[in-house]
Amino acid sequence: VQEIIRVKTAAGPEYPVLCGTDVCPMLGQIWRPHWRQAAIIGDQNTSKLFAQPLAEALRSQCERVVQLSFPAGELHKTRATKEELENALLETGFDRASCVVGVGGGIALDVAGYVAATYLRGVAHVNIATSLLAQVDAAVGGKTGVNTPYGKNLIGAFHQPRAVLIDIAALSSLPEVELRLGLAEAIKHAVLADEELFNALESWAASDAGPIPPEHLVARCVEIKAEVVMRDERELAYRQVLNFGHTVAHALESASDHRVPHGEAVASGMVVEARLAERLCGFPPSASNRLVALLRQLELPTEPAVSFAEAAPLLGHDKKTRQGVIHCALPERIGQMHANDGRWSVPVELELLEQLWGNS
Ligand SMILES: NC(=O)c1ccc[n+]([C@@H]2O[C@H](COP(=O)([O-])OP(=O)(O)OC[C@H]3O[C@@H](n4cnc5c(N)ncnc54)[C@H](O)[C@@H]3O)[C@@H](O)[C@H]2O)c1
Repeated sequence: VQEIIRVKTAAGPEYPVLCGTDVCPMLGQIWRPHWRQAAIIGDQNTSKLFAQPLAEALRSQCERVVQLSFPAGELHKTRATKEELENALLETGFDRASCVVGVGGGIALDVAGYVAATYLRGVAHVNIATSLLAQVDAAVGGKTGVNTPYGKNLIGAFHQPRAVLIDIAALSSLPEVELRLGLAEAIKHAVLADEELFNALESWAASDAGPIPPEHLVARCVEIKAEVVMRDERELAYRQVLNFGHTVAHALESASDHRVPHGEAVASGMVVEARLAERLCGFPPSASNRLVALLRQLELPTEPAVSFAEAAPLLGHDKKTRQGVIHCALPERIGQMHANDGRWSVPVELELLEQLWGNS
């Protein structure tokens, strides 16, 4: 077991991010004696694959262990799903001595974390990340929430987990397409903070080392995510850098009724926003070309799957929108985001976005 980093938070205690191939002993290691009830929450896939051994491992430490699941997919990342899970916990009589154990990809962890954030005004939760996307991004940082018909992740809470466990062994059952989707967020981390990581991803993608990225690259992504979060936990400004590609991505996801998966939306969203960055922040065209080439190598899309006309009404439903003006977090080179005098996002005219939309 490797401890990648300890995340220090303003609101709560610091927490470890552990990475290993045998997750049950890791869970035992971080479990607190006062967590007497455990609710293991996953989607139906991850619950089936992973919940049983976790429940068995926790039975010796807890008075009560329940397993709860909901159907997989963005269409179920909703307030209705959260309510069902909450009702099940209330029915079972879970009190404040409970800990929610989220197990799965970004969807399961966002939902489980949000349940923990508001159950009895907040109980502890632990994230066990089983998709690559959750490992390199979603599991760390304390953003929890659900989708609405008006846009993605618009209802939620900041609620830091008490530990994050990255289950590397789980990646062997993850469909290859999901591995690729996770790589989109890894590339994002490289663009926003680390050119060396970008180079390493390029070399790895060009080699035939198999579809699972090496552990040290996953660990580097976790560090980047944690460092951003520690600098600006509540997204007052700097944390927006994690949103590179996401202003466009969230509109693509919502406009397609979530037929476009998050990783694909982020991939093509980064390309559109890289073109914006060329115009607005001096991002070199050669860097955009490298980004496109890397995405292609990894069979990720480089053009939006939804027309500008369809996506336009949803572009403004973004948490960065201010006084009706869309904002994007943009890079000025690979490894460095544009600070814009400490605002870390720049206003973007819809006309310019339209012009660059299919132009990639
Ligand atoms: N909270 C954050 O900071 C943050 C950051 C990035 C993304 N997100 C959110 O994460 C979500 C996307 O996450 P995702 O790509 O992990 O999607 P996901 O949670 O839907 O997981 C992808 C699919 O893989 C399955 N799966 C997961 N692990 C598996 C395994 N080991 N073996 C077999 N199947 C497995 C899941 O059941 C699902 O069908 C989006 O909703 C996005 O908004 C949140």
